[in-house]
Amino acid sequence: MSLLNSGWRTLSYHQKRLVRDLLKYQGVRNMSKMREEAYIDGQWVSAKSGKTFPVLNPANGKVIANVPDMNETDAELAVDAAHKAFQTWRNTTAKERSVLLRKWFNLMEENQESLSRLLTAEAGKPLAESRGELMYGSSFLEWFAEEAKRINGEVVCSPARSREMIFIRQPAGVASLITPWNFPNAMITRKAGAALAAGCTCIIKPAEDTPLSAIAMVDLAEQAGIPPGVVNVVTSSRGNTPAIGRVLSTHNKISVLSFTGSTPVGRLLYENCARGIKRVGLELGGNAPFIVFNAADLKTTLEAFMVAKFRNAGQTCISGSRFLIQSGVYDEFVGMIKDAMETRLVVGDGMDNGVNFGPLINQSQLNKVDGLVKASIAAGAECLLGGKPHELGGLFYEPTILTNCAETTPCFEEEIFGPVVGIRKFETEEEALQIANSCDVGLAGYIFTQDVSQAWRVARQLETGMIGINEGLISAAEAAFGGVKQSGIGREGSRHGIEEYSEIKYLCFGGIN
Ligand code: SIN
Repeated sequence: MSLLNSGWRTLSYHQKRLVRDLLKYQGVRNMSKMREEAYIDGQWVSAKSGKTFPVLNPANGKVIANVPDMNETDAELAVDAAHKAFQTWRNTTAKERSVLLRKWFNLMEENQESLSRLLTAEAGKPLAESRGELMYGSSFLEWFAEEAKRINGEVVCSPARSREMIFIRQPAGVASLITPWNFPNAMITRKAGAALAAGCTCIIKPAEDTPLSAIAMVDLAEQAGIPPGVVNVVTSSRGNTPAIGRVLSTHNKISVLSFTGSTPVGRLLYENCARGIKRVGLELGGNAPFIVFNAADLKTTLEAFMVAKFRNAGQTCISGSRFLIQSGVYDEFVGMIKDAMETRLVVGDGMDNGVNFGPLINQSQLNKVDGLVKASIAAGAECLLGGKPHELGGLFYEPTILTNCAETTPCFEEEIFGPVVGIRKFETEEEALQIANSCDVGLAGYIFTQDVSQAWRVARQLETGMIGINEGLISAAEAAFGGVKQSGIGREGSRHGIEEYSEIKYLCFGGIN
């Protein structure tokens, strides 16, 4: 463990706490055995090349661990292990899988605080948010432990007296699960919970910035008794990620690929999967319209705005992105959000008490956000608040408001994935819908109005897969999460989240006298 190598006495309070938490989640293992390893075929392993890469704390740039920098050789070993394990895991009963998922869920609950601190250390999100993500993440394991027992088939009416027609559901095979850095815990459980419930085995490829949560969670999966090879974790630096992605999307032993991340990477993986006709689940970028009508209750809308925009400092696929505000409430609502952003957002290290707004994940994300803000201002947007890197330095960015945005303003055209509120005033419902639908992605959207007819009318026409109506927090294990247009394919969570991982097999019983 690099923290330990650097000398216990030189560590800050938070670093010492992190080390203690890591030890705690690992059931107080010997310090020298702290996990900085990947997990293949039930073994904790290094990269075959012996290489490692550092994991940084985005709040201060310090190295918190060094983990295996694996490449395609390691990925192939993981695929072989998952494929071998599938031959027995596929034959377990739903009840057996359910019991193991429930044990994994219980361990996640027991280790919630340690896992939350680990999450804040590697992803930078405020501790209260990490605790929220832990509850959210664990809830997928609980949900899919229950759903495992309800993956039923169908008996349908045959057109012939001599036949009976039955559909059974079977696990699809080995699943590649490629997960993002913005929800290092919940995006793994949302995929792995569904895959395991269906009887698939999997290889998890966590994001380069946040592999530690994946390692910790899979450690708990092992402790829960999930057999070797059923869950595997392959870690790698940014440099090796494309090669691993290629193996995970083209290998003939892979049947399903589930990816959460950007639309360009999703497109590439989809193209790779097309060659092998693999099943895909893609949860890609959004650019969520957040529409405030004259008939909105502005107090409710403000609370929804704060959570929909500032969860994870705006680095969420379903963050409000394009704010459309009707002229009758425009001045009042813009004043309210400016005031709330100035007085309620406390920027800093997510481990510190009271902080509710952390750093961005890495330098390239900060450069992207800053570049889009500058380009938007150059294109005619007006900066009402913020607009530059925060005086704290590092990866902190100022909560920013840009008004006077048009469809072609860079922060409207491209998902900003940061703490930037781009605003446009509109006059009519038709105009709001036209602007909201004028993009090629459609993950989430938000509508604020107390007029029920208007809520229904707009919800029917808004081209997104999910809509918050007078609500800014729509995520839950029970929800069917996913998008339309170039925001992806398939749904995660809910009972539909299992569909990607199971196949229908049609049995026709003939010759009945
Ligand atoms: C995401 O940003 O990819 C997921 C957000 C969520 O599940 O709420």
